[in-house]
Amino acid sequence: MKKIKHNKFPIVTVAAISDDFIIGDGNKLLWHLPNDLKRLKNITLGNPIIMGRKTYDSIGKPLPGRANIILTNKNSNKDDLKTDKFFVKDFEKAILKANKWIDKNFDKVQKQSKQIFIFGGGEIYKLALDYCIKIELTVVNVKCLNGVYFPTINQQDWGKKLIQKVEGNEKYPSHSFWTYLRKK
Ligand SMILES: NC(=O)c1ccc[n+]([C@@H]2O[C@H](COP(=O)([O-])OP(=O)(O)OC[C@H]3O[C@@H](n4cnc5c(N)ncnc54)[C@H](OP(=O)(O)O)[C@@H]3O)[C@@H](O)[C@H]2O)c1
Repeated sequence: MKKIKHNKFPIVTVAAISDDFIIGDGNKLLWHLPNDLKRLKNITLGNPIIMGRKTYDSIGKPLPGRANIILTNKNSNKDDLKTDKFFVKDFEKAILKANKWIDKNFDKVQKQSKQIFIFGGGEIYKLALDYCIKIELTVVNVKCLNGVYFPTINQQDWGKKLIQKVEGNEKYPSHSFWTYLRKK
């Protein structure tokens, strides 16, 4: 596992993938799963989330109760302290910004449970996965065939645990929640 110097918190990927490892079409998600959105909120609330500029654009606004740290090469974006929205130019800066935000907003006890979440999309998962100790993964039982891929998970590096299976219905496909923990 790779490490970022001076980082004090676990880095965790949170993602939803199709059976064929696709996360979206490049602009948006390819499903609407209210359950998954609730779980995503529960897991990430009170923590920093790091995302690519395209994912941020697709959401369209900062998610409340979290530091929204957005990776971009562009110079034109401005931080907004009111909504905890920050733009950074590389992954290391994103992690250090997340550390700074946690240090500023939480006391010693609260800090013990803080995690830094990798929120997507494809480019950001790819550059961050080697730094992650955990993956909170939703597997959606659809085949998308085309789109943006989640990076390959080398199964021998991870132990995986099924958290919950959800049957599909006329509104949404079946899906399951998994936690992957890095073995080495
Ligand atoms: N299923 C899920 O869990 C999930 C989660 C999140 C997103 N998604 C989906 O993923 C898709 C978007 O993914 P994507 O791969 O196309 O884009 P992305 O990863 O969201 O964003 C890519 C952008 O991030 C910036 N970037 C990437 N690497 C950088 C680096 N090293 N330094 C600075 N900036 C960097 C660049 O922004 P600039 O162009 O501004 O320089 C780049 O264009 C959408 O369909 C979205 O809905 C799915």
